[in-house]
Amino acid sequence: MKYNFDEIVSRWGTESVKWDMCERGVLPMWVADMDFKAAPAIREALQKRLDHGIFGYELVPDDYFTVQDEWFSSRHGWSGLTRETVLPTTGVIAAYSAAIKAMTVPGDKVIVFTPCYNAFFPAIRNNKCVQLDCPLHYENGLWSIDWADFEAKASEARVLLFCNPHNPVGRVWTRSELERVGEICLRNNVFVVSDEIHCELTFPGHDYTPWATLPSEMVEASVTCYSPTKPFNIAGIQIANIYAADAEVFKKMDRAINDNECCDVNVFGVTALKAAYGASGEWLDELRAYLYENARTVYCFLEDELPQVVASPLEGTYLMWLDFSRLFQVKEGLSEALGEFLEHDCGLKLSVGTIYGPVGEGFMRLNIACPRSVLLEGLQRLVAGIRFLLKPHGCCHHGDGEGGHCCHHGEGEEHECCHGHGEGHGEGCCHGEGHGDGEHCCHHGDGEEHECCHHGDGEEHECGHHGSGSREMQAPEN
Ligand SMILES: Cc1ncc(COP(=O)(O)O)c(C=O)c1O
Repeated sequence: MKYNFDEIVSRWGTESVKWDMCERGVLPMWVADMDFKAAPAIREALQKRLDHGIFGYELVPDDYFTVQDEWFSSRHGWSGLTRETVLPTTGVIAAYSAAIKAMTVPGDKVIVFTPCYNAFFPAIRNNKCVQLDCPLHYENGLWSIDWADFEAKASEARVLLFCNPHNPVGRVWTRSELERVGEICLRNNVFVVSDEIHCELTFPGHDYTPWATLPSEMVEASVTCYSPTKPFNIAGIQIANIYAADAEVFKKMDRAINDNECCDVNVFGVTALKAAYGASGEWLDELRAYLYENARTVYCFLEDELPQVVASPLEGTYLMWLDFSRLFQVKEGLSEALGEFLEHDCGLKLSVGTIYGPVGEGFMRLNIACPRSVLLEGLQRLVAGIRFLLKPHGCCHHGDGEGGHCCHHGEGEEHECCHGHGEGHGEGCCHGEGHGDGEHCCHHGDGEEHECCHHGDGEEHECGHHGSGSREMQAPEN
């Protein structure tokens, strides 16, 4: 490999949402960005732009469009990305929100396939539309569209807000699935807003099919929102595009991004996009291979250490969707309680399944876009934490005495609340040291579990109780 994805780059103290919203020592495997430096070509181009020293308003140059057209036509068979079909904007959320605005009137229904990316929900609400959930069908770890449900709901809806590849279940929809979705939408006059931000991150056997390569009548009744920010790890730079093949749709979208005041992009966004699509293909291919190995690492690790946790096959994205329902009885609050426990007692922050819709109960989302050693550390914390819960009397607690939810005590019983473990029970504990900085606690790196853990405060505690009251993190929408 030419690029070193094993390199650990500390992000603490860089105002990173993913890292700096967590307590020091907690391993953040939640927000969808990566712990890898961006491709060298991007960093060099940004440095050059920076060195110019003047950052005034900038035109979007022609090669901003040609570089995209070349990339998408050569990699994905999608051509026709020009100034007449592509509208630059500040982000994919801004893009699909403007599309909802353009294509609906207040009160219109917008379909989402749940569980789905959580920032879909406010975009629907903020445009005064009504969210219509079509829960995906789930069987044996596999996710698919419930066609009968979708067909029934399409007749009431105005827009489908679609995600390809799908965050969080990791599906890369096949061409025949997309055509079936498109056919149902056409028949019911449902406009498709396709969020394809994760499109470059697919794994062997699962090719990304751009919505824009479907039959023309389906493409004309759609827009595609896409960006290089996820695959090239430049999300903070905030640049994205809206593709509209139909001239009328293009005009409406142009109006909507002007109304929403998100039609101007920043100079670094333009520079980074050109360097990403223009000169970072090789880096991306190595990244995909690395992420694929990371996914395989998770499967193997879980199979060996925690076979009851089901990881859905990751066809695309770097977000793994983990099912805990074989370990714990699924009832309201389970995912949240697990999230609290893992974060505060095990030093591992995952995304709580229910933020992606009520069907996410019993699931957690794991971001695997980090060096493999960090991934393994996270997995060890997860395993140690779950094993602890499964011990008689092991449970997650909230450390605030209020006895939030649950958890399961490995004896088939459930309790309304949790107790702290700082009562001298010392029932074993979970989790890992903050990968080298030893800030948070207790895994001793030897694969064993110990009776106590250190909480970064210089004291040794009997167990994983932090007793510091409520530490609720407000999860940003990501
Ligand atoms: C499906 C999806 N769409 C959009 C976004 C955010 O896009 P942006 O940062 O360009 O607004 C994310 C981020 O995780 C995402 O997963």
